[in-house]
Amino acid sequence: MSYTLVVILHLFSAIIFLGFVFADVIVLPAMKKVLTDKEHQNVMTVISNRARKIFPITVLILILTGGYMFSKYINSELGIFNSSLQILLLIKLILAMIIASGIVYSLSCKFLKKTPNPIMKHFHKFVLLVGIIIIILAKVMFVV
Ligand code: HEM
Repeated sequence: MSYTLVVILHLFSAIIFLGFVFADVIVLPAMKKVLTDKEHQNVMTVISNRARKIFPITVLILILTGGYMFSKYINSELGIFNSSLQILLLIKLILAMIIASGIVYSLSCKFLKKTPNPIMKHFHKFVLLVGIIIIILAKVMFVV
């Protein structure tokens, strides 16, 4: 039962996290059509501030709940690379860690008042793409 609760928590966090990224990359740019540049900038600033509160906590929950579930499939008894499920789960973990590192980098630039590398302008698009791959891996790993 507790495992099921952890899966549900993991799934909710994934929905909130990727839902926010989806809105940012796909839905919100539509506002540009009806807002002036200044208004659009103000709206994006407010939304980014909210994102900075939501992103780290949902990713932390994803990593903690994911880590708990991970130990069911990869442990000293079952080994690490003994099945395709384990290999796909490891790829999923690496992709999630790349996203988490990007968030840590972005937050540290904000706190240290440093200008992030220009490539970070595309970070949300990258997260959306990688997030979709992670979801596919999460389901496909049980059937290959
Ligand atoms: C961006 C980060 C992540 C996203 C978007 C994500 C998303 C998902 C989704 C959608 C599922 C399917 C849940 C279901 O059964 O309906 C899932 C399952 C799973 N995730 Fe993640 N995940 C993330 C990070 C992680 C991490 C860091 C780990 C491991 C340390 C992990 C381990 C797992 C495991 C083991 C399952 C299978 C659960 C089961 O059905 O038994 N996830 N994940």
